[in-house]
Amino acid sequence: MVTSSVASGKLAVEGGTPVRGPDNPFTRNSPREMGPKALDLVKKVLDSGWTYSMVADFEQVFAEACGTDYAVGVSNCTAANHAVLGALGIGPGDEVVVSAISDYGSIAGIGYQGAKIAFSDVDEHTGKTTAEEMEKVITPRTKAIIAVHFYGQMCEMDPIVELGRKHGVPVIEDVAQTTLGHYKGKTAGSIGDIGTFSFNSSKLLSTNTGGAVTTDNQELAEAVRRFAVDRGAIYLVNQIGAARYHPGPGYNYRMGELEAAVAIANLETLPAQNERRIERGEKLSAELAKIDGLTPPRVSEPGSHLYWMYHVQFDREKFRVGMDEIELAIKAEGLDGMFPMYYLIPHSHHFLENREQDLARLVNARSHVETTFRFSWTYRMTDSDITDIAEVFAKVTDAYRA
Ligand SMILES: Cc1ncc(COP(=O)(O)O)c(C=O)c1O
Repeated sequence: MVTSSVASGKLAVEGGTPVRGPDNPFTRNSPREMGPKALDLVKKVLDSGWTYSMVADFEQVFAEACGTDYAVGVSNCTAANHAVLGALGIGPGDEVVVSAISDYGSIAGIGYQGAKIAFSDVDEHTGKTTAEEMEKVITPRTKAIIAVHFYGQMCEMDPIVELGRKHGVPVIEDVAQTTLGHYKGKTAGSIGDIGTFSFNSSKLLSTNTGGAVTTDNQELAEAVRRFAVDRGAIYLVNQIGAARYHPGPGYNYRMGELEAAVAIANLETLPAQNERRIERGEKLSAELAKIDGLTPPRVSEPGSHLYWMYHVQFDREKFRVGMDEIELAIKAEGLDGMFPMYYLIPHSHHFLENREQDLARLVNARSHVETTFRFSWTYRMTDSDITDIAEVFAKVTDAYRA
């Protein structure tokens, strides 16, 4: 029996009929579709017996797609972020500014390099950091600033780039959630000095595991490659032949040839998918904007939000129950999502120095995770998914209105 999509007034959490049940679930981001050329490209790699470099092909097409001179394929975005800091020579005594709201992959490399993590607060609604918040934590020891484009929404990059120039520090864009996003006509990862990307199985461009670094700076691209691909080595040719030296530190963060094949295939279909994600996201936002007490994503520039995830903010004052109860009620109606405390990095990572002081200081970031419900989004959302998601929120907000 297919569960009726017509909601009864009684909440499912109180025994009513859910908007969607297990036999009629909302469309999910997974399973992912592969680009039509994926199998042929994978076969080309396998047929070559590892002699063909699909990674080199990928680096070329990815740099072109992002509008940068160089791209380096790596194993994931956690590695990309680490490699960039290694390439910049960041180490003990240095500080790196990063948004307090992100994935652990944005900060791990700062810790690996022995540098101090300086969290910047965010815009309370969007969850994105701003130049103004970053500037508050910049000190003479700051050696880089990382702008995380969150939920698929680009940061306001003009003031962030200006801030980097003013303090003479490189601007890193963490593009893990926003591949091929645009801001003022420029592509994500081409606006700051360097961009880092994730292609994990949930991401916009998905190769299961994979990532990249983009930049226009040749020296930086070479340093990233040395750190992430060549394990710190340089190759010299002398009278005896080729010799390898390891003058500096490095890791094996290489991208796999098979992942590169899938990345090229999936890159081809990504622009159309992103367009559709935007159209679907905007359609839901128009519905949710009609519900008192909810704020759908505020988008500063049309098309600058790819809706990797969809997020909607609750006005606490308007409800007579806490967000925990609201979360349970939404889930019981069949929409899987959460108020993502784990995105507030000092909240979820207990090993951090100054954790308590950071949590007290990061007022907007705390409020953001406490009031913002986020759920999986996909270009495959149907009209009936959108109608029913709006119905879930209408039902739960009506039941719990103060
Ligand atoms: C903003 C951000 N940065 C970095 C990462 C780490 O990416 P990866 O899983 O490819 O290491 C993620 C992954 O979720 C992310 O969302």
